Amino acid sequence: MHIGILTGGGDAPGLNAVIRGITVRGRSQEHRITGFLRGWKGVIENTSIELNLNNVRDIHMQGGTVLLSSRTNPIRVENGFEGISSTYRDQKLDCLIAIGGEDTLGVASKLNEQGLAVIGVPKTIDNDLSATDFTFGFDTAINNVMKTLDMLHTTAKSHERVIVVEIMGRHAGWMALYGGMAGGAHVILLPEVEFNTDEVCDLLVKRYDEGYRYGIVAIAEGAIDPDLQRHVMHSAAKDAFGHVQLGTGIGVGEVLKNEIADRTDLETRHVVLGHIQRGGCPSAFDRVLGTRLGVKAIEMAEKGQFGKMTALRGTEIEAVNLEDAVGTLKTVPLEQYETAKLFFG
Ligand code: F6P
Repeated sequence: MHIGILTGGGDAPGLNAVIRGITVRGRSQEHRITGFLRGWKGVIENTSIELNLNNVRDIHMQGGTVLLSSRTNPIRVENGFEGISSTYRDQKLDCLIAIGGEDTLGVASKLNEQGLAVIGVPKTIDNDLSATDFTFGFDTAINNVMKTLDMLHTTAKSHERVIVVEIMGRHAGWMALYGGMAGGAHVILLPEVEFNTDEVCDLLVKRYDEGYRYGIVAIAEGAIDPDLQRHVMHSAAKDAFGHVQLGTGIGVGEVLKNEIADRTDLETRHVVLGHIQRGGCPSAFDRVLGTRLGVKAIEMAEKGQFGKMTALRGTEIEAVNLEDAVGTLKTVPLEQYETAKLFFG
C-alpha cells in the first residue's frame, strides 16, 4: 500500500512516536510511507518526504513533529479540496493518516464523506477530543504544568504572594484541572464552570487568615467570569479554524491577577505558561501511547477501516468512527471538578 501521513494543528509531544510507529510497522509489511509537510498545506501542495527506518530512528524520544505542522484549513484555501484530491491521484495514495485534533480530524471526516480513504489518530494536549479516553500529548503537558506549579509554590511561599497561573485550554479545562490538581493549586478555574472573582478573593483571604500565607490559582485561558467577560478582551485575531487566539495580548490570568490585587491587600503576580506546556520531550506514557496508536493506524489501513480513528478505550486501542470524535468537544464533567474543589483553599 502507499500510505500518506500528516500532522496538523498545534504540536503535541508524542507526534514523532506516532510517525515512527506508522513507519516501522508499515515498512515491516513493505508499504510505502509518505510524510506530507506542514499538515494539510503539504497535502494541498503535494510537498512530502519519503519515510523510512533511517529517518524515523529513535524520533519517539523527541518532542514536536519531524513533519512540521500548520493550522492550514483546506476550506479557507482556494481549491484546497481539489488540491488534496489531485495529490491523492498523483501520489496514487491508498490511504491518508491524519494525526491531529478536532480541526484536523474534522477535515479528515469531510474527506471521508467525499469518498477519500482516511484514518485519524487523535492528538491534542487539550485532551478535548471525544470518543477516546485520552489523547497523546496531554500527559506530557500536564506534567509540564505540574512541574511549573511545583516551582511556583516555593517562590510564592517565600514572598507570601498569590500567583495566578494561566494554563492552555480554550474550551475545555482538562489541563488546568489535572495540572492544577497534581501541582497543588489552591483554586482551579475552568472554561466549563463560570467563576466569581469575589469568591476567589474570599477563598484566598481566608487561606492567608488561617496562616497559609501564599496562594496558587490555576486558571484555564478560556475561563470566564460572567462579570468581567474577559474572553472578548483578548486579541481579536482568529486562526484558520475560527478560534480566538487566546494567550496573545492580555489574557484572563493577568486580568484576574489585577482584580485580586485591586480587591484585596494580597501581593499578586501572574504567569502565562503558554507554549512551554507543549514543548520538550514526551513522557513515557505519550511515547508508548503514540507508538501504539501509530501501529494500530496501519493495521486499520490494511483492513480497509477507512473513516475511522484510533482510540484509547480503557487499556485497549480500538477503531471508532471519525465522525464520533469530531463535532462535540469532550469537556470536563462537573463531578471531576467537584472532586478538585474539595482541595481548594
Ligand atoms: O490546541 C492546542 C493549543 O495548544 C491550545 O491549548 C491553545 O489554545 C492553542 O493550541 C494555541 O495555539 P497556537 O499554537 O496557534 O498559538
